[in-house]
Amino acid sequence: MAKLVIFLLALLCGIFAVRAQSDLRSILEVLSEGPLARLLDTYIDPPPRTTGFSTLTPQNSIRLLCTKTNEPRFQQVFFGDVNVRNKLNFSLPLTIAIHGWLDTNLTLYNTLTPSYLRFVNNTNYCVLDWRPYAEFGYQVAARQSAPLVAQYLFGFLQNLSLLYFPLDKVSLIGFSMGGQIAGLTGKLLPGRIGTIYALDPAGPLFSHPIDIGPKRRLDASDAQYVQVIYTSRYTAGFGKVLVGAQNFLPNKGYHPQADCTAKGDGVGELTVALQCSHRYAVKLFVSSLNPANPIIGKKCPTIFGARVCLMPTTDRLGVYAKRILGDFYL
Ligand SMILES: *[C@@H]1O[C@H](CO)[C@@H](O)[C@H](O)[C@H]1NC(C)=O
Ligand SMILES: *[C@@H]1O[C@H](CO)[C@@H](O)[C@H](O)[C@H]1NC(C)=O
Ligand SMILES: *[C@@H]1O[C@H](CO)[C@@H](O)[C@H](O)[C@H]1NC(C)=O
Ligand SMILES: *[C@@H]1O[C@H](CO)[C@@H](O)[C@H](O)[C@H]1NC(C)=O
Repeated sequence: MAKLVIFLLALLCGIFAVRAQSDLRSILEVLSEGPLARLLDTYIDPPPRTTGFSTLTPQNSIRLLCTKTNEPRFQQVFFGDVNVRNKLNFSLPLTIAIHGWLDTNLTLYNTLTPSYLRFVNNTNYCVLDWRPYAEFGYQVAARQSAPLVAQYLFGFLQNLSLLYFPLDKVSLIGFSMGGQIAGLTGKLLPGRIGTIYALDPAGPLFSHPIDIGPKRRLDASDAQYVQVIYTSRYTAGFGKVLVGAQNFLPNKGYHPQADCTAKGDGVGELTVALQCSHRYAVKLFVSSLNPANPIIGKKCPTIFGARVCLMPTTDRLGVYAKRILGDFYL
């Protein structure tokens, strides 16, 4: 019995690397993910929704608002919209931003949208609002909402491609669970969309306590190019594996990021500090949109297990990256 408890604790802490057959793996998954998800829910005020998932319909609960960056005027693009050609300019690329779990005030878009409209010219820019599905407890959001939203976004993009919109001109920008939705969407297409930018993609129930594997979470094969920024590894963010084709790792990807040290010893202070580190990926991505503000990562070769940064390869984080593959530290 004591052994079992220690075993489960080890799982929860994510220190147990499971390389078992899939059936054992799925049993472990069910055993270990519930407690972690419930732990996350306890820090949410007001508490997340627990009932009513099945009463929602995607048509009424997932909204896509789009504009052209040159003439900012957001309009809702409906699913199966016959006017989609008037709302999007089919000769221009298309970027879709995807918020994360909860995000009741759509804080992702408060900073991302003005910067994107200001600095990225000649693009269709859309924000996805999936808040009704994002209000549920973490486990429901991760296991039911995220795949459902991805399925819907996939349908939208597939319809666009049937209208001869080239999928390689599509970019998805997802923060936290939005990063996982971006990956799941890309997987369904499969891998045909141009670009995914995943800003500290969600780790709990995706990479820890157990990595659920590249078929069910963000992976480098989900788009032609996948850039991932890690800022709170093993906590809110993704754990062990670096899943992008190009990965950016401020502070090696770990909490605390700049100005995100906990202001006290309490759990409350730690939660705020972790959120700050988690959001730091957004902060970096948004400031990097200004072409005059390059944020540079360094790729350093590993020699005898140590990173040696004498003459590193460098690249810019964000949309102006030269897309050199590998892991870039900053
Ligand atoms: C795709 O197009 C079909 C046919 O117009 C429509 O019924 C469906 O709702 C569309 N799906 C999405 C997700 O836009
Ligand atoms: C769409 O974009 C192209 C390329 O910038 C531009 O020439 C064209 O006028 C735009 N069409 C509309 C309807 O705005
Ligand atoms: C959302 O905005 C409202 C009104 O500005 C504010 O009272 C509330 O604290 C905000 N919620 C979160 C989670 O930031
Ligand atoms: C976008 O347009 C603005 C104003 O027209 C210009 O100042 C800026 O340099 C352009 N940005 C890029 C990346 O071309």
